[in-house]
Amino acid sequence: MTPAPTPSIFAPVSTPAFAIRDLSFFVLAITAVIFLIVAGFAVYALIRFGRRPTNPQTEPAQVYGSTQIELAWTVVPLLIVVVLFLVTARYIYGIERRPQPPGALEITVVGHQWWWEVRYPKLGIVTANEIHVPVSDAADPLPAFLTLESVDVVHSFWVPQLAGKMDVIPNKTNRVWIEPRQTGTFVGQCAEYCGLQHALMLLVVVVHPPDEFREWVAAQRTPPAEGAATKTGRELFSSLACINCHAVQGTPGNGAFGPDLTHLMSRSTLGAGAASNTPENLRAWVKDAGTLKTGALMPAMKLDDSQLDHLVAYLSSLR
Ligand code: CUA
Repeated sequence: MTPAPTPSIFAPVSTPAFAIRDLSFFVLAITAVIFLIVAGFAVYALIRFGRRPTNPQTEPAQVYGSTQIELAWTVVPLLIVVVLFLVTARYIYGIERRPQPPGALEITVVGHQWWWEVRYPKLGIVTANEIHVPVSDAADPLPAFLTLESVDVVHSFWVPQLAGKMDVIPNKTNRVWIEPRQTGTFVGQCAEYCGLQHALMLLVVVVHPPDEFREWVAAQRTPPAEGAATKTGRELFSSLACINCHAVQGTPGNGAFGPDLTHLMSRSTLGAGAASNTPENLRAWVKDAGTLKTGALMPAMKLDDSQLDHLVAYLSSLR
């Protein structure tokens, strides 16, 4: 896997993102020509008609109204805007109207304050903040179609190297598709202000080679091992309020308010980018999530040290 590249629309790796870059270059080219012409005239006027000792101190000729000039500066910009509009509309239509092919991977992404729930309805997988997809072969494209929903406020799904920005709206379903042509880890962010921790809604998309993706799916579908060493922690988890908000397969926990923890340790960060997912940070998070992410909706659990130790030992075993 290559290291995480910069989230730039000028470094696309997925079909819709390539289209967006092409369109951006087209718009930039037209506006660059306009800029050069306008700035050129301005500089020419400054140099040619500047006040000089040799210049007579008289006003220039005063011109009132010129049908030709007025037509020129109305019609030409109008034509430019029409061209920009038509080309943009064509690109948007091309991306948004793409029908979902039968073999496409289906993923549901649900925006929460402030994390992303990620579901693979056909595969029975639920995870958070990290989306895993297989790489798409140019000869045999394998797109992933993402259904976007929100449980609270408006968020926006944006992974610049993979696709355009798409709002995530409560009581409305939006759709976005990606077709990554190279493996790697690509990052994005919630792109619509959604409250205190809008800045900590990191999106990570991991694009795997096909075999590796199958392995990931198999691992996610396997319930976590129940070791004897973590029995106390597991019982603690099941007896505490954790299970009201969190799910872990094979336990009474089936809450959906917070992230599914079945394979918690397969994820790289806690709190959607608030901290790296290490046992130390996990302990601090369970003790009082607010210390790592102010305003996080997970309450401080008011546990004593021994309870924390057992709980974190258990959670750290959820691979
Ligand atoms: Cu979610 Cu901003």
